[in-house]
Amino acid sequence: MTIDKLNEIANRMVAPGKGILAADESTASITKRFESINLESTENNRRDYREMLFRSTEAMKSCVSGVILFDETLRQKAADGTPLVKLIKDAGAVPGIKVDKGPKPLPFSPGETVTEGLDGLAERVAEYAKLGAEFAKWRAVIDVNDQIPSYNAINANAQALARYAAICQAGGIVPIVEPEVLMDGAHDIDRCAEATEWALKETFQQLYHARVALEGIVLKPNMVISGKKCPRQASRAEVAEKTLAVLKRCVPAAVPGIAFLSGGQSSQDATAHLHLMNAAGSLPWKLTFSYGRALQADAIKAWGGKPENVTAGQRAFAHRARMNGLAATGRWSQDMETAA
Ligand code: 13P
Repeated sequence: MTIDKLNEIANRMVAPGKGILAADESTASITKRFESINLESTENNRRDYREMLFRSTEAMKSCVSGVILFDETLRQKAADGTPLVKLIKDAGAVPGIKVDKGPKPLPFSPGETVTEGLDGLAERVAEYAKLGAEFAKWRAVIDVNDQIPSYNAINANAQALARYAAICQAGGIVPIVEPEVLMDGAHDIDRCAEATEWALKETFQQLYHARVALEGIVLKPNMVISGKKCPRQASRAEVAEKTLAVLKRCVPAAVPGIAFLSGGQSSQDATAHLHLMNAAGSLPWKLTFSYGRALQADAIKAWGGKPENVTAGQRAFAHRARMNGLAATGRWSQDMETAA
């Protein structure tokens, strides 16, 4: 696979006005989401839910560039026997796969983790490519408080991300590189900026050592934002400004696009932040979304696990996708939310 081919896939993943639907919740995570609507997490229920999203044809075609899947979903068929991957491709979106095996405690670094999943990854990537995946995702998790992150955690996670990214590119698929600085703590926005800058600097250093072609990756970072428990919550404008400042310091222009995670932001905040950054003017990379919760929360609620609510679920999903599609080109406004 040439760099040109990887670059072409990466560019499709960040096509103007479109973004990525992160539907790669592990079985444990989707079970938690289903608990909120009192729905049992069976294989068929998980299939029905994802099928509802992927069959939201208009939203998929106009606002979704790619979909990140969990292993089970990549192999699943819709109720009528159509492979779910085919639904995604027919809508013109790129199918992708989560390949990490989750964060595990990092010895001698209390409260910190390193994401595992490198053993046998080349073989798994080869199989996933055969099943139709054109990109992969690996999420590193960096927690923040007064004491952490440590260099041990920053370095171990950046090295793992770089090895993962190299394995993907060697196997012909685009790696989404996701170093997530969590917003769960009580830290303020400047502490988040500091940790995010450190994580990104080290990640790009390790990508360089691992000989990863930056033209063939998509970066999936957190926004620079106040910790959820911080008494002073930064404004939307401050989040946009500080996120852009850190990204400009850290992300080379060779990277085709940056697709943010939502990380626990409200659906509308995640949209507003993305919009403000894109409205701020010309940038060296595309800036879009790769949201899980912020794209799905309203849809899952409207659906409630009931077949008679599929249309309502699709309508809720289509609205969020459209709002985020507009934000990805700086054309969203708050009154569009209330109008709908
Ligand atoms: P959230 O947008 O819910 O943070 O999920 C995106 C994702 O894929 C995290 O790895």
